[in-house]
Amino acid sequence: MEIKPTGPVLGADIVGLDLATPPTTAEFGGILRALGAHGVLRFPAQTFNTDQFAAFGARFGELEVNVANLFHEPGHPEVMILSNILKDGKPIGLGDAGQGWHTDMSYSETISICNILHAQKVPVRDGKPLGDTQFRNLHAAYEDLPDDIKTRLAGRTATHDFAKFWDMMRARPGNTRPPLTEAQRARKPAVSHPIFMTHPITGKKVLYCNVGYAIRIDGMDPAESDAMLDYLFRHQEQEKYLHIHHWTEGDVLLWDNIGTMHNALADYGDIPRYMRRVQVAATADYAAMAA
Ligand code: SIN
Repeated sequence: MEIKPTGPVLGADIVGLDLATPPTTAEFGGILRALGAHGVLRFPAQTFNTDQFAAFGARFGELEVNVANLFHEPGHPEVMILSNILKDGKPIGLGDAGQGWHTDMSYSETISICNILHAQKVPVRDGKPLGDTQFRNLHAAYEDLPDDIKTRLAGRTATHDFAKFWDMMRARPGNTRPPLTEAQRARKPAVSHPIFMTHPITGKKVLYCNVGYAIRIDGMDPAESDAMLDYLFRHQEQEKYLHIHHWTEGDVLLWDNIGTMHNALADYGDIPRYMRRVQVAATADYAAMAA
């Protein structure tokens, strides 16, 4: 297994692994260390099936069954289908997943260590792949914060709410997401997390407060909280933190859901795109596994 960094901000290719064969403990430790160091890891040309994909995901922690999981692979409620493909006029996947900056599962009591996507179908126009996934580096965003902001927010928490992103998507013209049911809202009540989170692999602080789900800074006057959130959202969206992944079919993309946030670009219309996805809860001792 070889790790080839692909960008100055985030990103590395991991070559020499066929993920259909479970990585050894030593290889897995190397993957975790690379995840901490590079945030977004691409394993090219993977051909494993849904069982093997889910088993690879489960090495990282408990697999989430998404509360609004409308579409999943047969027999695998934890493997979501993200796709714009229609069959008999009906969607076979969630067509607008992730189209807005966010960090998956920051709305959960147990946050997520990583997402893993397997690209089955990548839209292409004039030889150019479409439907990129963009990332921003939240280790760097924390590092760059002015000292007075670090001091003001030290020890503070923010509230994250699943419904914020869902309802934002529903408000877009033509969106077909159904409203969340009362039962779904009750299963994912708003939760608080530290704004400066210590990353379980790197041991360094990250700015853990994403525009997709964060709704307020706890214990702060509402106007001050809105202004501070606005500041943090603008700060972390600077171009210097940006990394873009251009997909190739067969890519497995594994990304850090604590040290990065992401956005799926919707520039492909009805050109077919099909991704399998697992979201992995941070339920393991990553420092020990990466040692
Ligand atoms: C996601 O937010 O997990 C979806 C990303 C993508 O489809 O590119």
